[in-house]
Amino acid sequence: EQARQIQQTLAEFRLTKAQLLEVKKRMRVEIERGLSKATHKEATVKMLPTFVRSTPDGTENGDFLALDLGGTNFRVLLVKIRSGKRRSVEMHNKIYAIPIEVMQGTGEELFDHIVYCISDFLDYMGMKSARLPLGFTFSFPCHQTSLDAGILVTWTKGFKATDCEGEDVVELLREAIKRKEEFELDVVAIVNDTVGTMMTCAYEEPTCEVGLIAGTGSNACYMEEMRNIEIVEGNEGRMCVNMEWGAFGDNGCLDDIRTNYDQAVDENSLNEGKQRYEKMCSGMYLGEIVRQILIDLTKRGFLFRGQISETLKTRGIFETKFLSQIESDRLALLQVRAILQQLGLDSTCDDSIIVKEVCGTVSHRAAQICGAGMAAVVDKIRENRGLDHLDITVGVDGTLYKLHPHFSKIFQQTVKELAPKCDVNFLLSEDGSGKGAALITAVGCRLRELEA
Ligand code: BG6
Ligand code: GLC
Repeated sequence: EQARQIQQTLAEFRLTKAQLLEVKKRMRVEIERGLSKATHKEATVKMLPTFVRSTPDGTENGDFLALDLGGTNFRVLLVKIRSGKRRSVEMHNKIYAIPIEVMQGTGEELFDHIVYCISDFLDYMGMKSARLPLGFTFSFPCHQTSLDAGILVTWTKGFKATDCEGEDVVELLREAIKRKEEFELDVVAIVNDTVGTMMTCAYEEPTCEVGLIAGTGSNACYMEEMRNIEIVEGNEGRMCVNMEWGAFGDNGCLDDIRTNYDQAVDENSLNEGKQRYEKMCSGMYLGEIVRQILIDLTKRGFLFRGQISETLKTRGIFETKFLSQIESDRLALLQVRAILQQLGLDSTCDDSIIVKEVCGTVSHRAAQICGAGMAAVVDKIRENRGLDHLDITVGVDGTLYKLHPHFSKIFQQTVKELAPKCDVNFLLSEDGSGKGAALITAVGCRLRELEA
């Protein structure tokens, strides 16, 4: 009987193909709403223009600084790109911590901290006097009016610094550099991490015209036809669109598949009511969904001898890396128990079986609904081009995709099933999005010279 009730709870997370096709269809509807002039203002999937009009062609050249803010790690990078026959990219980088007080303090403190890290990096590289062009990977939704202007629409994930929303983050960075009075930089481009990832991968593989992040957050970008991007002037060629698909469902269109546990995760978050799709499928939240289920099962007496420990009450204990370990096929149940022990959860053997199943169910759904979103994107591109069959490459990054033992496989299978007319090749980004940001900066510099 207990087993039956547990299965009943988990059944809510098991979606049929018909339900997934419905998710795909709804994503398509939201894509159209975001692209259309008449509806883009209310649209939840914002479809933000990026002013990136082509993927790299190998003529990019020069030395650039790049920042990479918004994923697990904050990095400062020096990227040396050489064009021509023996084209190459050489990168140096350093990771810096962003303390939670800084992520959630004032905007000025956040940008001062960023500039402090740049300063340290320039010292480390011995390049303080160079006045390099800089590309800023900033992994949050920004309204762009050009390559080097981006107004932060809203913070997402774990960030909540004050006085930034509604401001141009490029200006905030420039002001912080001025305040420091130590060095000069030329901020040329602001780049979403999906876009940076697409460009990084496209440098190696020209058929890459889509970028996906399945990490702390979840998002995608792709090359859309200019004629379909109604809020940008011009009809020729293509432009990369940052979808901000994490906000899919914020108008209630996914309510029929959201569970009470999803609801609880949302209520416990920094941004209630927002990023509902992201909260069902990205690394920052999967562990939280698991925790909510475990709390409920414990309350009902099915787990941990009915005792809700302090640990179980702690937000964020199940990081992606723990979920990945728990679901690893090579791991015996005893080791699962050891991991739970390490987290301060005293489990029996039966407990560990249940916990593993809960984790598996939650990440399976995540990979499937993420795949349903991607199926909508590749089918849209196929239709844009009037093709019966599309071959395309998607550049991918993110710890969930890279570390989780099953996510990528289930995700790929789902895309294949839901978009049978597309052959999608998934290319893992090895170099992060900083490289892509530098490539975009290189093009930005060249365009400036042409205009001057
Ligand atoms: C990194 C990219 O490799 O992946 C970042 O350089 C990106 O720009 C990140 O934000 C996404 O993954 P995660 O899991 O760190 O959020
Ligand atoms: C969040 C951000 C988005 C980013 C994604 C992945 O959804 O809003 O801009 O691309 O996380 O990092």
